[in-house]
Amino acid sequence: MLVDLIRVKAGAEPIKFGLILGSGLGHIAEQVDGIAIDYTDLPGFPHAGVSGHNPKLVVGDLEGVRVAVLGGRMHYYEQGQADVMRVPVETLHQLGAEAIIATNAAGTCEPNTKPGDIMMLSDHINFAGANPLIGEETDQRFVSLSDAYDPAMRTALRSAAKAADVDMSEGVYAWFSGPSFETPAEIRAIRRMGADAVGMSTVPEVILARFFGMKAAAISVITNMAAGLSTENLSHEHTKKMAPLGAAKLEKVLRRYLSNQSR
Ligand code: HPA
Repeated sequence: MLVDLIRVKAGAEPIKFGLILGSGLGHIAEQVDGIAIDYTDLPGFPHAGVSGHNPKLVVGDLEGVRVAVLGGRMHYYEQGQADVMRVPVETLHQLGAEAIIATNAAGTCEPNTKPGDIMMLSDHINFAGANPLIGEETDQRFVSLSDAYDPAMRTALRSAAKAADVDMSEGVYAWFSGPSFETPAEIRAIRRMGADAVGMSTVPEVILARFFGMKAAAISVITNMAAGLSTENLSHEHTKKMAPLGAAKLEKVLRRYLSNQSR
């Protein structure tokens, strides 16, 4: 089995958290004291891929907590498969993860938020309308998504941000399929529907995590004002260029959160 293969390489001790890293946010994987396995060596792991991602699974310790980090995530927009991350997320569960923490790059719909800021997800809007559980045949597919973003984890992450002296807002993330960016009209519409930020990921993984019985939390690094909110041209190059601005803040919060968990 896939987990046995990982345990042979990384050791059998269960992990506590699975981290899923967004575009341009791969730095933290390099700081884990452990071993890295290429997705190409993990049967069932998707390994198409987007530039700005590092398709490796890293298992080891960060701030004294055993974690597994998915350095590259695949997106719905690659092949139109909403469940493309099912095997990686299930693997985190099988390795023992109680929870996932997903990170992503996102555009803000909120004029008061700026590139380089970070936002913890309080909830999401599945605007892509796809779902990774379509085709699942058991009644487990009827997953409740009330409190999808675990309230206790959010409280602890909020405290971690405060202790690390990082401003972290909280808001609703709307999932758009991509890969094209949104139109200004879509951004005006989604703002009225209650979204604070928009992006092309995370929602499928959170649904899968809840399906597998794990808790979930997620943090966005804001890389740009959403379409129509600034004159800046949106591009993946721009996302990759801007991600490191907020990545340092994200890293501080995650480290503080994990070190609080290790006590
Ligand atoms: N829209 C969608 N996805 C994104 C954006 C955006 O503005 N920025 C980074 N990822």
